[in-house]
Amino acid sequence: MSAPFERVLILGASGQLGSELVRAFADCETFAPAHGHLDLARPADIRAALAQMRPSLVINTAAFHQVDACEADPERAFAINTLAVDALAAASVAAGAVFAHVSTDYVFDGRKGAAYLETDTPKPLNVYGVSKLAGELLAAVHGPRWFVFRTSGLYGSSGVSNKGPVFVERMLRGAENGDPLRVVGDVVFSPSYAPHVAKTLRAVLATERFGLYHVTDSGSCSWWEFAVEAIRLRGLEPRVEAVASAQAPGAARRPAYSALDHGALRAGRFPAMPSWQEGLHAYLQARAARQDASSPASM
Ligand SMILES: NC(=O)c1ccc[n+]([C@@H]2O[C@H](COP(=O)([O-])OP(=O)(O)OC[C@H]3O[C@@H](n4cnc5c(N)ncnc54)[C@H](OP(=O)(O)O)[C@@H]3O)[C@@H](O)[C@H]2O)c1
Repeated sequence: MSAPFERVLILGASGQLGSELVRAFADCETFAPAHGHLDLARPADIRAALAQMRPSLVINTAAFHQVDACEADPERAFAINTLAVDALAAASVAAGAVFAHVSTDYVFDGRKGAAYLETDTPKPLNVYGVSKLAGELLAAVHGPRWFVFRTSGLYGSSGVSNKGPVFVERMLRGAENGDPLRVVGDVVFSPSYAPHVAKTLRAVLATERFGLYHVTDSGSCSWWEFAVEAIRLRGLEPRVEAVASAQAPGAARRPAYSALDHGALRAGRFPAMPSWQEGLHAYLQARAARQDASSPASM
């Protein structure tokens, strides 16, 4: 497919999703400024950077998404997840660019008990969710050429900033070391392999079907089921104790059920998302390839 965008600016390009988007848009001219070079906490820098780069597409994956830290520092949460999105959306319109913003399943309270559609009313439970929902709304007020993509439970080959190895990697390493593992069994979500999400974002962004999309791997599971399946696919015996979320409380309230359904992708006749089990399978294949490449025998 020919590149529909000439110049693509990707914010958060060192992150799990951002790094996959850089790969997905490799046939375009991409700008991927590091956090240190373009800090979303400084809106004036955003305007200057876009005026200079003149991108035709801006994709914002950068966020302050440490959920408990957002609770402790709402000012920073709103600065990065809300006000910076407003500045980015406005600067995109001024530069003549399409604006795409990545949001979260945490805009929902989890009380529906079934997968959320784009048409369901958000009701966030914590500062992070409120700041992201406000960012979604501001992404859409500056002009008609915007996309908001809500995703969930991202994992990929790049680590999450400030969090260390992603959950699935911690589980696999723990199982490989024979460590006892205890995982929450009563919180259900849609785990999503970042390359799958990036591929679908690229497909949607190549169209003019602007608006709000849920983009996750298909299906849902608890964190415990996710850990057990990862370890089983790795060929190990899963020895994982399921614990109640009440036993692992954080500062912020979290939705107990935040699986996302893909009504907008279906309406646009985009290909169905792979299942979360296929996501895990792909992750384990890529992990094994990385380990082979770094083993002394391959050098
Ligand atoms: N991770 C999840 O499970 C999950 C679930 C639902 C929705 N989301 C949403 O998906 C998006 C991508 O998440 P992710 O997991 O790919 O994140 P990630 O791996 O933590 O990457 C975040 C990226 O944003 C950059 N960044 C952070 N603060 C910044 C700032 N003030 N200015 C400029 N850049 C900044 C980081 O750079 P440094 O590392 O250098 O700081 C990093 O490149 C986010 O919008 C998040 O809200 C994530």
